[in-house]
Amino acid sequence: MSIELKNVTYTYSPGTAYEIHALKDINLSIPDGQFIGIIGHTGSGKSTLIQHFNALIRPTSGTITYNGEDIWGEKYDRRALRSEVGLVFQYPEHQLFENDVLSDVCFGPMNQGLSREEAEVEAKKALQHVGFKEKNFSKSPFELSGGQKKRVAIAGVLAMNPKILILDEPTAGLDPKGRDDILDQIAELHKELDKLRAKEEKAKAVKAAAKPKAAVEKAVKEEKTAPKKTAANTATKKAAPKSKKKAE
Ligand SMILES: Nc1ncnc2c1ncn2[C@@H]1O[C@H](COP(=O)(O)OP(=O)(O)OP(=O)(O)O)[C@@H](O)[C@H]1O
Ligand SMILES: [Mg+2]
Repeated sequence: MSIELKNVTYTYSPGTAYEIHALKDINLSIPDGQFIGIIGHTGSGKSTLIQHFNALIRPTSGTITYNGEDIWGEKYDRRALRSEVGLVFQYPEHQLFENDVLSDVCFGPMNQGLSREEAEVEAKKALQHVGFKEKNFSKSPFELSGGQKKRVAIAGVLAMNPKILILDEPTAGLDPKGRDDILDQIAELHKELDKLRAKEEKAKAVKAAAKPKAAVEKAVKEEKTAPKKTAANTATKKAAPKSKKKAE
């Protein structure tokens, strides 16, 4: 189910002389586990579109749902959404602001409630994933090359362990080798995110399968503590262990 857009329209500076209709009546469905690329001319609205996916911008009209829930609903937790749907900006400079690389990548997980120590574990894992060398961890993000900045920006989002990763022009400004490296790493990440998703789904299925078992156990317990023995509950009592076995 994941992300769905229905009749989404977005207008910059509506009602002014600078009004721009960036998106018009977009309908789109991105199911779980997909690896999707969006292509379009410069200025066609790609960046505007993907900023809708984690509620960074609100559509002028239309609806956006994540796992079936309207992300602009009154009680919807958009902060939690932004943790699950990670967005790496087109221009890494828009995302990097700490004094050194490691602190920058720690920012997201610390914002999610981890201690600096715990955040560093996630940050180092994420930096390793994008092939960023440890000797550069203490550098200022602004001393880095374009490709290195991009990697740090991706790591900053990865360190928050998102379920969905959205990358805006991840290969822009990279040389062919850098472009291939980053695309390989993204493909690898997709595999890992997919494995994680499959694991979560399995856990959900096990939990759902355990429910009937719990219900049967409760019924059996109630039977045992029932004061009077009747023909009806004797029959249920006999049947219960059989259905319990089935539920297991
Ligand atoms: N902050 C903004 N204020 C006003 N107009 C904007 C703003 N951002 C984008 N636009 C306009 O909205 C339209 C879509 O821009 P957007 O950045 O989404 O395109 P894009 O497909 O990502 O382009 P690119 O390939 O160059 O990154 C363009 O006409 C652009 O000029
Ligand atoms: Mg763009």
